[in-house]
Amino acid sequence: MKILIKNIKQLVQVEEIPRLKVAGKDMKNLPCINDAWLAIENDKIVGFGKMADWEGISDWTNLTVIDATDKLVLPSWCDSHTHIVYSGSREAEFVDRINGLTYEEIFQRGGGILNSSKKLKDTSEDELVESALLRLNEIMLQGTGAVEIKSGYGLSVESELKMLRVIKKLKTLTPLAIKATFLGAHAIPLEFNERKADYIKLLINELMPAIAAEQLADYCDVFCEQNYFTKEETIEILTAGKKYGMTPKVHAEQLSNSGGTLAGVQLGAISVDHLEFIGDAEIAALKKSETMPTILPGAAFFLGLPFPPARKMIDAGLPLAIASDYNPGSSPSGNMNLMVSIACIQYKMTPEEAINAATINSAYAMGLSKTHGSIAIGKQANVFITKEIPGYSYIPYSFGNTLIESVILNGKVIK
Ligand code: NIG
Ligand code: FE
Repeated sequence: MKILIKNIKQLVQVEEIPRLKVAGKDMKNLPCINDAWLAIENDKIVGFGKMADWEGISDWTNLTVIDATDKLVLPSWCDSHTHIVYSGSREAEFVDRINGLTYEEIFQRGGGILNSSKKLKDTSEDELVESALLRLNEIMLQGTGAVEIKSGYGLSVESELKMLRVIKKLKTLTPLAIKATFLGAHAIPLEFNERKADYIKLLINELMPAIAAEQLADYCDVFCEQNYFTKEETIEILTAGKKYGMTPKVHAEQLSNSGGTLAGVQLGAISVDHLEFIGDAEIAALKKSETMPTILPGAAFFLGLPFPPARKMIDAGLPLAIASDYNPGSSPSGNMNLMVSIACIQYKMTPEEAINAATINSAYAMGLSKTHGSIAIGKQANVFITKEIPGYSYIPYSFGNTLIESVILNGKVIK
């Protein structure tokens, strides 16, 4: 199978020499080719260039030709932080928040993550697969080509394993690249109220060996936050996770400055995510690390949180990634086009910075930047073709709209 896309108005995020991530001032640079062609063979990108230099088609066998006149081609979005496997929804809590309760108050009443955990307990593996597949299909049509999915609504040996097995199954049922993250330390289940140390023991001594035995997770994550897990507990859990081959990730500084970033950097986390309450000490620590700071504009928007200091982080020379946090409690949307818009509109990231953050840098945050996140020879053929639009800045400008006409994943046209 071969695909040739020709007459592309703008081929966005092309790399002659592939990079693993982009930081600081370099994030302002989004390499593009105007009036371009792109060639795909089987599931890989095999060539690209300017139409003026195009040598024409010598072999028409199994070739699909797509004319992209007045349209743009971008590498698929990489969404490095989601909780897309869940049961039911939580719009009643959404209304409670409109009426004045905070996210934390709802959790204190046994809602929030515990509410989703209750629902998940009574949902079968097959039902979870089915509902997650609907969401994966939805984000695929919105341009996402790779997604990280967390457990964390199980909060028991049985249910956490159920979630992770669902994620493993999803890998076989969708063309999306999927990475799995163990987030048993998402909240303290009610049965372990006042016995948090015992719950941590269960995570480390019972769950981690079982997860490693079935190879169910690439990453281990902790919600490091007041009323959830402290910095010390985060270090304990992530250290144990590393022994079982799971690279650390952290939910850090979302509701307060709680030490998650420093814990993550100390342990070589691949990413620290949220960062609404990040301070100068964390920025300095990240500067000396290979950890990808990741912002989740959907969650901050939906919960009405203060904005993470995206400008300050980039101006300090840091890289930055954007992900959706798709989940029923704090971001019931996985639309990366919208996330890129919010980052531009509210956080004053330029379109170039935001597109870098949602492609190559978010690919890095899920360990996929060697194969995803840009248009480069040998990379996975995951791209989308836009409708007729003037240029890439129109994507964040046209907020709330999804301007995607066609989606190609692993070299196959799926839309
Ligand atoms: O990333 N902050 C913790 N976890 C999720 C929300 C989970 C939920 O409310 O269901 C987040 O925002
Ligand atoms: Fe999250």
